[in-house]
Amino acid sequence: MYRTGIMTLSDKGSQGLREDKSGPLIQTMLESSGIYEVVKTIILPDDIETIKNALIDWADNDDLDLILTTGGTGFSQRDWTPEATMAVCDRTAPGIPEAMRYASLQITPKAMLSRAAAGIRKKTLIINLPGSPKAVKENLEAILPALDHGLEMLL
Ligand code: MTE
Repeated sequence: MYRTGIMTLSDKGSQGLREDKSGPLIQTMLESSGIYEVVKTIILPDDIETIKNALIDWADNDDLDLILTTGGTGFSQRDWTPEATMAVCDRTAPGIPEAMRYASLQITPKAMLSRAAAGIRKKTLIINLPGSPKAVKENLEAILPALDHGLEMLL
């Protein structure tokens, strides 16, 4: 089982002003595949230092194989998730967001507005997903078929 963390980035969600539907959706999709164990979940505000510190903590202290983030990948002034992710990664994994945008563009031209990134910190793969449940489902479906092979190579 791949040890997985799900990090929801949302100012409103972190203040209890909006229900987080995307984090639980990711958890359901991963657990139904039978090879992922969700061991950490958190909702944090869209603050780059907070996100960086949380990613470092999960990757270095919790021995996670995979961290999926949701939210904060767009163009608004508070969208900093890709920058936080790339700041803590040693290596990039550009094929993953390429595949997400390629698949998503068949569904909506707005897919080009996701700045989602992916990279590797030591042995942990970190992948950004957009924020809405619809986008989460469509993006995660696009990468799940190859994800376990990538994780296997990181072990
Ligand atoms: N990708 C898919 N597959 N489906 C979607 O509906 N929404 C887009 C994009 N990616 C979308 C998608 C929109 S409208 C935005 S603004 C960006 O993801 C960034 O979303 P975020 O700011 O919630 O992270």
